[in-house]
Amino acid sequence: MTTLLEVSGVSVSFDGFRAINNLSFQIGAAEMRAIIGPNGAGKTTFMDIVTGKTKPDEGRVIWGERSLSLLGLSEARIAREGVGRKFQKPTVFEDQSVQENLLMALKDRRGPFSVLFYRPQRAHLARVAELANEIGLSDQLRRKSGELSHGQKQWLEIGMLLAQEPRLLLVDEPAAGMTPAEREHTTSILVEAAKTRAVVVVEHDMEFVRRLGCKVTVLHEGSVLAEGSLDHVTANKEVIDVYLGR
Ligand SMILES: Nc1ncnc2c1ncn2[C@@H]1O[C@H](COP(=O)(O)OP(=O)(O)O)[C@@H](O)[C@H]1O
Ligand SMILES: [Mg+2]
Repeated sequence: MTTLLEVSGVSVSFDGFRAINNLSFQIGAAEMRAIIGPNGAGKTTFMDIVTGKTKPDEGRVIWGERSLSLLGLSEARIAREGVGRKFQKPTVFEDQSVQENLLMALKDRRGPFSVLFYRPQRAHLARVAELANEIGLSDQLRRKSGELSHGQKQWLEIGMLLAQEPRLLLVDEPAAGMTPAEREHTTSILVEAAKTRAVVVVEHDMEFVRRLGCKVTVLHEGSVLAEGSLDHVTANKEVIDVYLGR
């Protein structure tokens, strides 16, 4: 499998505390990967480093077939390189419809301005319809986004990220606050998305992780403690001690 992202020997300290400690791992170009581990293991900090929000003290973060180092790049530039990130709190425009939110997010459009002053082109509307179908909101296109349920807002935000056509999608604890049915729908959206891009999901819900059906990386104290299938890592004694057995 072609490697899309390679993190090697990365460390970062906050006030002398090593949140990421010589972290190394790789993500393939069309791979789904789950990251699990106890609170404070460094999962969110890993995403902060990849997206350029946090600069590591040491190590390398290498991207794509041109082996571009992401470390010197701004957050905006890294996003343009194709790294999308979903935060826990959805950031949809509540006063706009689902369709308007998706239109604004399209890659070849330039922000809210164009939605206000131009009639959307047929191709844009077709792409929005496709995205709405991918996230299961086809029958909600005219709804005001503020009226959507928590789960639907999360899906809309995933749709807005997919509209940017990222090559890597980072998703931090998507299942939090969702009903079991919403969680199931979220897994199917992510599984579908990972067919054509890399998707990295941090999640504590083991049922959710099982449904992703992917390789799992266990982080502990800022390093990889175990990696492999969910059955493989959950049978690991150290993983049970630091995470599962609590
Ligand atoms: N910007 C920051 N400043 C200070 N400490 C931080 C910062 N970001 C993360 N940390 C610390 O780094 C450790 C790892 O945090 P985090 O990556 O959020 O863990 P996780 O997402 O696995 O729960 C924690 O001890 C956290 O308090
Ligand atoms: Mg976190």
